[in-house]
Amino acid sequence: TLRALAACALALASLSAATALADEPILIKFSHVVADGTPKGQGALLFKQLVEERLAGKVRVEVYPNSTLYGDANELEALRNNDVQLLAPSLAKFEQYTKQLQVFDLPFLFDDLEAVNRFQKRAKGRQLLRSMEDHNIVGLAYWHNGMKQLSATRALNMPGDANGLSFRIQPSAVLEAQFRQLGANAQKLPFAEVFKALQSGQVQGAENPWSNIYSQKLHEVQPFISETNHGVLDYMLVSNSRFWYGIPHQIRMELEGIIDEVTYAVNKQAEAANQTDRQRIVSSGRSQVITLSPEEREAWREAMRPVWQQFETVIGSDVIKAAQTVNR
Ligand code: LMR
Repeated sequence: TLRALAACALALASLSAATALADEPILIKFSHVVADGTPKGQGALLFKQLVEERLAGKVRVEVYPNSTLYGDANELEALRNNDVQLLAPSLAKFEQYTKQLQVFDLPFLFDDLEAVNRFQKRAKGRQLLRSMEDHNIVGLAYWHNGMKQLSATRALNMPGDANGLSFRIQPSAVLEAQFRQLGANAQKLPFAEVFKALQSGQVQGAENPWSNIYSQKLHEVQPFISETNHGVLDYMLVSNSRFWYGIPHQIRMELEGIIDEVTYAVNKQAEAANQTDRQRIVSSGRSQVITLSPEEREAWREAMRPVWQQFETVIGSDVIKAAQTVNR
């Protein structure tokens, strides 16, 4: 009986250990490379807040902004190893896992953020969320930042003005080709290094939406910013497929509901947030914002457009065609 009692106690102990383990909240680390005040930074914080409100004790979220946990060089690898569970890299950063997403980098493909939005909502856009599942990466949503502007140490009014300058780019062959079209050079650098590279003169120009320029203080080291709106910088919220589909069904459904709400909020506010930051840059007096005439903008379009053809077979003409139908 003593032995039976001991066995019983042991069984109870291991049972309570198992329950304790089961009661442990699921930890979601969300790492990103931008500031809290940007559309993506705000989205990450809203996700954390809503999870805390609705899934307290079941799921815990930790947000790491500004490349403090992982940066551009290693964040996708960390996600695939399940060292981090949520990321929202720019669509220009998935080249290693799918070429199709490079459609978003094609210059002058989308007239504005509304057109980008329509493409993301249609069948082809939705399909691209699943384009990296072979690599254990699942796309959960598209988040907007905004249209990119060209900043530099000299005034860029016409495409020829960029000739000979070096621009920092995200790791995308399309973006490299885009600057090559201008007779300029391109250097792939992680986001965390952009300010220093511009400040030291390692590169003389860059392309980013207003919110990234403002929050990184790039306007303090770039005396001119041309309002080209020549391309889009948007994000895909991604998780590790095995981790994501391993979350108990009920909880996962609640998380996906929260993600829908956050996505709606981010995408609704992104444009206004960028316009606010544009105004802050103008008010700072640190950088001159150059607005292009329709003829000047057309010249940039003409200069960059050959890139489409160069990447048609790489990206897939079906994807490019689907994207072209969304402009009005
Ligand atoms: C960049 O590298 O310029 C952007 O992708 C950064 C970001 O996440 O907005």
